Parts: sequence; structure tokens; C-alpha cells
Amino acid sequence: MKVAFSILTALLLFPLAALHAADVPKPAGSDAVAKPVTSSRSGLLLQPPVDISHFTQEDFTAFSATVGPEKIRKTWTSPVTALPPHPRKDVRGLTEDEVKEYMVRVCRLFDQGASIPVSDVGLISTQEDVVRQPMFNHVAVFSNAAAHIYLLVQRQADGKQWAYFSIVQDRTTEPPVDYYARIKGTEVEFKGTNCYRCHSSGPLAIHPARADLVSDAALAVAISKDIVDQPLSRFHFPENDPPPDYGKPLVLKACVKCHDTDGDRAPLFKVHSHPIRVLVDFGYMPPNHHLTPAELAELKSWLDH
Ligand code: HEC
Ligand code: HEC
Repeated sequence: MKVAFSILTALLLFPLAALHAADVPKPAGSDAVAKPVTSSRSGLLLQPPVDISHFTQEDFTAFSATVGPEKIRKTWTSPVTALPPHPRKDVRGLTEDEVKEYMVRVCRLFDQGASIPVSDVGLISTQEDVVRQPMFNHVAVFSNAAAHIYLLVQRQADGKQWAYFSIVQDRTTEPPVDYYARIKGTEVEFKGTNCYRCHSSGPLAIHPARADLVSDAALAVAISKDIVDQPLSRFHFPENDPPPDYGKPLVLKACVKCHDTDGDRAPLFKVHSHPIRVLVDFGYMPPNHHLTPAELAELKSWLDH
């Protein structure tokens, strides 16, 4: 998939190149994207960029390991942990209970050290007013023919404990349906708008806040490739958290090439302002080129009004 490849190049070859500069030959064209993850000062951010330059790789390694060192930094061959086949044959549409079971099961597998997580300090949640401090993530992917299950184990620098979130992509329907939840033990709470704000099209590629704040750059590339290659899915809003009217979608040409009802990604609305501001300001979107001043002004005016 061409789009997927160019985005992965833009997002991820840089960290890979940076971490293994000494021993990995640089892929063709990587110089063009070998830029540090810094704000372009586009004027899109509502708050000054968070400065985490004092934060060392040792701090990152030590804090990440508070989840239990035996659970992370695994050797791997596939970035996706295979699950046994779905118990119900010829299933068309998972039940909510089946979705919950998958979510609880992947949390347990993570706790048993039976998953392949990539760990990073995430860019999108660290910036702006979300937490404004390093946000630590462990992301793992699981699958069988019926479902892709994504797990996020997350904690912010001053947070008291690790929180568990999951996305289950039901692959037995056309299009697939994504369920979102927070998991506490065996209790699963489905969520809607809260997650939709950043996850407009399902799971997000790994975007580290700094090239050296990722546990395994090759694994980040592999997991992001799995995520970017997913079919376009539909966001499941639980009954107690239905979607409000999100207004008109963003129609900027540089974005709707991909983010449109018939594009690779779902349309973007004002509710997605936070990831739009961060990903464009930090040069991740659009992939592989920068907006012209006129496009930037158009985007800013759409976001601000
Ligand atoms: C402020 C934006 C934001 C919000 C709100 C948000 N997420 Fe995420 N989420 C992210 C980002 C960014 C990543 C990738 C992080 C990285 O770089 O490791 C991510 C990753 C994940 C992953 C791992 C798979 C993937 O997409 O990479 C899961 C599972 C997940 N989020 C679930 C949730 C759930 C459930 C909610 C709602 C309760 C939620 N998220 C709300 C930004 C957000
Ligand atoms: C060439 C296709 C392409 C173009 C053009 C593009 N995007 Fe994206 N965008 C993607 C893909 C693929 C992802 C998922 C990978 C990721 O998370 O980085 C994504 C992710 C995003 C996300 C995270 C939410 C989501 O949909 O997963 C936002 C926000 C976003 N893009 C904003 C923009 C904006 C704003 C523009 C225009 C200035 C733009 N993009 C242009 C392909 C594109």
C-alpha cells in the first residue's frame, strides 16, 4: 500500500535511523525526513510546546519498567500476538460480551508477560493541555481471524498507576467496527466521544515525542504498519455515549485526499482539533510535505472558528 508506506517512512524511519545510525544503512530518501520531532511553530498549537529536553533516555527506561520489567522489551519475530480462533463459527458481528472478553484477555496476557509491547513517550498526549508532561505508553496488538485487539497501558509522569485501554476491531462485519473501552480488572467500560477525539479512524500509529523515547524502533515501525494497513472501520458509540452533531468536516484539499468519506481515513471534524493541531505542527501531517502559508491559514481559521 503506497500511502501506508510513505507515511511509515515519514513517521518512523527517522527514529529507526536515529537509534541505529551507526549500524543500519540509511534507506533512500531518509535524509529528507531525518528531522527531530520539534514544533514547527506553525501557530496551530494553543499552548507553547512542552519542553521535555531535560528528560533522559534513562528516565524513560526506568519509568516504563515500573509496569513490571518482565512485561516489556521482549524479543520478537511478529509484532502481532496470535490468539486462538474465535470460539463461535461463522460469526457475523461479535457480541458486546465477546468484545469485553477479548479486552480482559489481552490485559491478562500483558500482565503475564505474554505480549509484545512497544513502549514510548507519546507525542500527541504529551503536548497541549492534555497532560503537559511525559505520557508513557505500552502498545500491543493481538489477533485472530475474527478480531484485531489493541492494548494501551498508559501512565503519566506524576500518575499513581498504570491504566488499561483497549480497542477491539470486529473483523467479522463489513466495514469492521471498532469498540473502545477502559478496563479495570475484569470490568470493561465502553467509551465514545472521549476516545473519538483522537481516534477518528481507529487505532493510531506510534508517534513518539522524541526519537530516543521509544523502546524498540523496529517494533514501532512494525506495529504502526499493522495499524496503518487496517481496513477503514466504523467507530462504535455505546448507547449511553452517542455521537453528538460534529458539524461540518474539514475540507482542506491537503487533507481530504485521504481523510474523506471515500478516503483511506475517516473525515476530520472540529472534535479532532487536538490531534490535528499537534500532528500538523510537528510535521507529521500531511505526510511528506508541509502546508503552504495559505493552507496553514485556512486550517487555522477553520480550527479557530
Ligand atoms: C489525546 C488523544 C487521545 C485520546 C483522547 C485517546 N487516545 Fe488512544 N492513543 C492516542 C495516541 C497518540 C496513541 C498512540 C500512542 C503512541 O505513540 O504510543 C494511542 C493509542 C491507543 C491504543 C493502542 C493502539 C493504537 O491506537 O496505537 C489504544 C488501545 C487506545 N489508544 C485506546 C484509547 C481509548 C479506549 C480511548 C478513550 C478512553 C483513547 N485511546 C483516547 C491518543 C489518544
Ligand atoms: C496521504 C494521505 C494523508 C494525507 C494527505 C493526510 N493524512 Fe492525516 N493520516 C493519514 C494516515 C494514514 C493516518 C494514520 C497514521 C497515523 O496515525 O499517523 C493519519 C492520521 C491523522 C490524524 C490522527 C487521526 C486519524 O485519522 O487516525 C490526524 C488528526 C490527521 N491525520 C490529520 C491530517 C490533516 C489535518 C491533514 C491535512 C493537513 C492530513 N492528516 C493529511 C493519512 C493522510
